[in-house]
Amino acid sequence: MEIRPTHTPLRELLLLADESEASVADYLPRSRCYAAFEGKTIVGQYLLLHTRPFTAEIINIAVTSSRQRQGIGTALLRHAIGTARVEGFRMLEIGTGDSGTGQIALYERCGFVRCGIDRDYFRRHYPSPIIENGLECRHMVRLRMDLHEIRPAE
Ligand code: ACO
Repeated sequence: MEIRPTHTPLRELLLLADESEASVADYLPRSRCYAAFEGKTIVGQYLLLHTRPFTAEIINIAVTSSRQRQGIGTALLRHAIGTARVEGFRMLEIGTGDSGTGQIALYERCGFVRCGIDRDYFRRHYPSPIIENGLECRHMVRLRMDLHEIRPAE
């Protein structure tokens, strides 16, 4: 598997991470995409967005369903951390729904620290309720990593 930039992210993976086409259309043109390739096949990808001064966000990340929970997401997150650090960003952020307990655990394992809640984010910006793990995905949990201080576990 090789992770490298691509100009042709897979639409189904974008929508797997974020079911709102309007939301994806908002940030996709401003983001850079990196994908995990097996041969010519993309098995995972993430979008990196320069949000505020010195700050980048992994705004969308997904792995092909049949290849999930095999370490590809962790490899993509580590790649994003390395990329953001090399590019001189000081802070790397990520956010996900409060019902996404597995995703939150993964981000924390990679060194991100919870820093806040964007209350009712999904009720405000999504047309209908999102149900995940039997729970309404209502608030966005915000996590971040200070790239100058924290080195993720290898
Ligand atoms: N349920 C439970 N645990 C999960 C889940 C889940 N749905 N997703 C990730 N995890 C956690 C678990 O701790 C798991 O460890 P385990 O298998 O030992 O229990 C670990 O993450 C798996 O780590 P990886 O194999 O490295 O991650 P993976 O390749 O599966 O990629 C990702 C993680 C990107 C979340 C993938 O599962 C996925 O594409 N999910 C659907 C789309 C999605 O939710 N994207 C993130 C939305 S937030 C955003 O885009 C900023």
